[in-house]
Amino acid sequence: MSEPVSPEGQGWVRVGAEAELPEGHQCAVDVQGISVLVVRFEGQFYALRNNCTHKDYPLLGGEVSLGRITCEKHGAKFELATGKPKTLPAVKPVKLYRTRLEDGEVYVGPL
Ligand code: FES
Repeated sequence: MSEPVSPEGQGWVRVGAEAELPEGHQCAVDVQGISVLVVRFEGQFYALRNNCTHKDYPLLGGEVSLGRITCEKHGAKFELATGKPKTLPAVKPVKLYRTRLEDGEVYVGPL
């Protein structure tokens, strides 16, 4: 039998053990040189480029509610599931990344 291929060997970046990423957890990981925000909301993991599309400001640390994260700079809200802006001043969506759960470990990778 062949060994299972680690997700990390396929371009995925390990975020951490699911058990260590509680509800509401936020962190940023580097995916191919890009800072990617990982958020756990209502049990699901979401990953978006850690960069507000309004004025190039990190989204990490923004308030999360109703499935949306708020940019702390000027208050734009982005939907975690789609990256779409839901309030001004942002009008462009944030790039999404994929998340994956394997053997209790959370990974992110390009969409
Ligand atoms: S930089 Fe995010 S709303 Fe302005």
